[in-house]
Amino acid sequence: MTAPTEAHKAFPRTIAIDGPAASGKTTVGSLLAEELGYLCVDTGIMYRAVTWQALAEGIDLEDEESVTKLAEQIDIDILPRSVEDGRPFDVLINGLDRTWEIRSPEVNQNVSLVSSYPGVREAMTRQQRKIAERGKIVMLGRDIGTVVLPQADLKIYLDASVEVRAKRRYAEEIARGNSVCLNDVIESLKRRDAYDSTRKVAPLRAAPDAIVINTDTLTVPEVIAKIKEILQQCDP
Ligand code: DC
Repeated sequence: MTAPTEAHKAFPRTIAIDGPAASGKTTVGSLLAEELGYLCVDTGIMYRAVTWQALAEGIDLEDEESVTKLAEQIDIDILPRSVEDGRPFDVLINGLDRTWEIRSPEVNQNVSLVSSYPGVREAMTRQQRKIAERGKIVMLGRDIGTVVLPQADLKIYLDASVEVRAKRRYAEEIARGNSVCLNDVIESLKRRDAYDSTRKVAPLRAAPDAIVINTDTLTVPEVIAKIKEILQQCDP
């Protein structure tokens, strides 16, 4: 972990948390937001929603123009959870609950391609900035500190080795009753990491002024405690 810079001194109304797949952003971000009374916005959901809807409509995912058009029209809502089944939020696509559908292996396989399209990113970034204008936001993603909210008051980058992330993702899937193979999870994460960090537009990377926390040996409460420690240093 590096020391906070001048940018972190004002009490944060926007907190950006970026990091690779399964680095714990959703768990940490939603609990942190709950404690602070902030709204947690997981931007990965938006890219997943576009991917799921495109698959459901039978759109060829290589057809960038059609996928972009869909991203400009889709109605995505993230609401407080209505069911206690392990979900952090409800995700509605065009008014229907698709919380678990957007986590399917098919979406996992295709979401990196969809999120590499500049027009899709533009449409999602526009929505994300609008949401962040309200303040009191914890926004999670890959490019929040670098592109979406470069002026965020506090930027955290959560990192962990692929093996640790895969074990966490595997345990989540098993707990949900899904049968998965650990090696497949490792391969899928590696593929997504490579794609997300090498794409031309808004690749996955820590902003120069982000505080990097490696979570390999940390539990969720320990990560939250670290962020709260940093927040205390931000308090006026
Ligand atoms: O965080 P996640 O695994 O739910 O994200 C799904 C995909 O969406 C991920 O592979 C990359 C993409 N994504 C992105 O490109 N930019 C973001 N701000 C958030 C997610």
